[in-house]
Amino acid sequence: MLQRPRRNRKSEVIRQMVKETHLTAANLIFPLFIVDGQNQKTEVSSMPGIYRYSIDNLLREVESCMNLGLKSFDLFPYIEESLKDKYASESYREGSLYLRAIAEVKRNFPEACVITDVAMDPYNSDGHDGIVENGVILNDETLEVLGKMALAHARMGADIIAPSDMMDGRIGYIRQVLDDNDFQHVSLMSYCAKYASAFYGPFRDALGSAPKAGDKKTYQMDPANQREALIEASLDEQEGADFLMVKPALAYLDVIKLLKDHTDLPIAAYNVSGEYSMIKAAAQKGWLDEQRTIAEVLTSIRRAGATAILSYHSKEVLLNKWI
Ligand code: PBG
Repeated sequence: MLQRPRRNRKSEVIRQMVKETHLTAANLIFPLFIVDGQNQKTEVSSMPGIYRYSIDNLLREVESCMNLGLKSFDLFPYIEESLKDKYASESYREGSLYLRAIAEVKRNFPEACVITDVAMDPYNSDGHDGIVENGVILNDETLEVLGKMALAHARMGADIIAPSDMMDGRIGYIRQVLDDNDFQHVSLMSYCAKYASAFYGPFRDALGSAPKAGDKKTYQMDPANQREALIEASLDEQEGADFLMVKPALAYLDVIKLLKDHTDLPIAAYNVSGEYSMIKAAAQKGWLDEQRTIAEVLTSIRRAGATAILSYHSKEVLLNKWI
């Protein structure tokens, strides 16, 4: 045998030398859940190890992440039912929980990268990512709300705005609103190929944001479709996105790879709540080696072509030196 691939695997030093995929703190984005009040830190029951923080505790959590070199955060709010309405007006109200959280994180940690979520669902009494009229999700009317929300985030100091709603035309619309208001420097990370996925279940528990009626299939993509992601990608590129996101990640590695091969923009992948909870549940039962499973999953998402990974594992992998 002239070719013996095992020779390049024979020692740790050689294995490290030929390693093709690297994962560092710089590639990781940590999603954080926030809730109103003081001194709150409540575990999400379907996401062991993940909490909703009031702003005071959020700042402590951000600080401990920063000390680990984890410096990018994506914030999501839990909103009281009484503050929700059909137009998600709480989302851009001055002094709202979310807007205060952005400003506080940026004031205390100016070097952190704060990514903000633009979508109506946490604030919408219908639980959808758009305005609902007679069971229909209105596209163009929703864009106006998204524009107001994005502008409010930019004013609070958001570094990157991430629209997760899947309305048509929202990247171009939001880019225009930001540019018209002198926020040319604020980036857009588009949830570009976002699928109507069962893996979002635990996240909707965390936010109390499940749709009150119907599902999200008229705006989120069909899990059966791959080529359609290319249409979304080319529109987002033309409309001015700075990052393209694929979500979920693990069941959609082919889509990450496809977009990587078709765009020069950086690809982000969202290792979503259900992907996190599956591993936690299996590890708690002793069915999987938690550390190795998590490292393998995150590495596979990078290998598929993701530049950045949004993951609930971000902090624990650095804290425990699992990567
Ligand atoms: C909705 C949104 C969802 C997630 C992020 N933004 C859920 C949904 O579309 O219903 C899910 C993230 C996760 O599961 O971790 N705007």
